[in-house]
Amino acid sequence: MAEPNIFTQYMQKRNTVVRNKKILQSSYIPEKLPHRMDKINEVVEIIAPALNKDKPSNILIIGKTGTGKTAVMNFVGKELRKADPNQTNCAYIYVNCEVVDTSYGILYNISNQIITDPAKKIPFTGWSIDKVFAELAEYIDKEEKVFIIVLDEIDRSFQKNGADIFYYLTSINEILQISKVSVIGITNNAKFTEFLSPRIRSRLGEEKIIFPPYNVEQLQDILYERAKFAFDDGILDDDVIPYCAALSAQEMGDARRALDLLRMSADIAERNGDSRITSAHVRSAKNKIELDAVSEVVKTLTIQSKTVLLSVILNKDEDINPMTTGDVFTKYKFICEVIGQSALSQRRVAGLISELDMLGIVHARVKSFGRAGRTREIELSTPKEIVNMIKSDDAFKDYWMYKPPKQKTFF
Ligand SMILES: Nc1ncnc2c1ncn2[C@@H]1O[C@H](COP(=O)(O)OP(=O)(O)OP(=O)(O)O)[C@@H](O)[C@H]1O
Ligand SMILES: [Mg+2]
Repeated sequence: MAEPNIFTQYMQKRNTVVRNKKILQSSYIPEKLPHRMDKINEVVEIIAPALNKDKPSNILIIGKTGTGKTAVMNFVGKELRKADPNQTNCAYIYVNCEVVDTSYGILYNISNQIITDPAKKIPFTGWSIDKVFAELAEYIDKEEKVFIIVLDEIDRSFQKNGADIFYYLTSINEILQISKVSVIGITNNAKFTEFLSPRIRSRLGEEKIIFPPYNVEQLQDILYERAKFAFDDGILDDDVIPYCAALSAQEMGDARRALDLLRMSADIAERNGDSRITSAHVRSAKNKIELDAVSEVVKTLTIQSKTVLLSVILNKDEDINPMTTGDVFTKYKFICEVIGQSALSQRRVAGLISELDMLGIVHARVKSFGRAGRTREIELSTPKEIVNMIKSDDAFKDYWMYKPPKQKTFF
């Protein structure tokens, strides 16, 4: 037993509600994937010939985020390894193009999953892509086998590196003598394929499989299946899973989001020292996720947009209601002057207000004021954490130090 320490009270408070934390993590591969057996079977039907050394068609898997694309392919990969444990007929290679972000990196990663001899491994940098490719092709052709290469998040790779890698991998069969390669591309943005040359596009998408978003009942089933293994009986209130599922179905039918909500609700309950998870914990988790998302956006705003946002905040603090674009502009000009920043025109500031409105950070409603023409009423729609974040932004240090010059008073 460790001697008592500052962590003891936390450790005693924690670990009361979740039996197995790993199960709620997004990297966990569950034994069962409810509502994806149809997609699993579609993939299996296409790639099964690989077990007899016949080349399957290339596949393009398309679906929004959190629809189970990666989970399905991980599942299929595991099953394929069970079917051919020594990879005598068929090898399954998975690369996430988001993590490996250059064409060289992708080929390097594929090659080194195939090349087992440490002396023959491809160096991390230094070779030309053509040389890596030639070496890879030579290795692939050493003994007759089908290589199934899964490229996850291919749109990311395309954004960064263009179509080279797809060209290499979809034309490799032309130079192979005995082995064959099938490519399975996964994307949550199918639009990028419009930029591929017709030849690469049709090769990559010989077969297309679409993953639809999950509906609320499907998300519930997915969560119940995980909860069975993650929690002991009686820990979850009955409305917790339906609530997590409903919130995520409203958004995008995203299973990752639903699992995140459940995991964070459990975390919050543990941190509070509560012994059950309730819908109140889910509500806090939802607020935290939303707050994190907004603060990410606010962090990346330009200094001009932040100044406009600070102007809205300060007007609100002064109870200026209704607040017009003119009110925001006046405050904005003043802040710019104090912090020594050049001021944009009222029109540009109005444009920045519209951008903040689109991001959901302020509300700008058009109001007609008769002869004064059309104007907008602006309201702040950010939680206090975001207000504090903007107020304490380094860019406005001088503003808070500023003391207005004393006015002369006449008697
Ligand atoms: N049918 C399902 N059953 C159980 N868990 C699932 C199911 N579908 C998705 N999940 C889980 O939801 C999370 C997100 O799924 P996954 O990573 O497969 O999404 P994705 O479609 O690859 O999303 P992205 O496009 O963002 O990469 C993972 O933790 C995964 O295990
Ligand atoms: Mg994925």
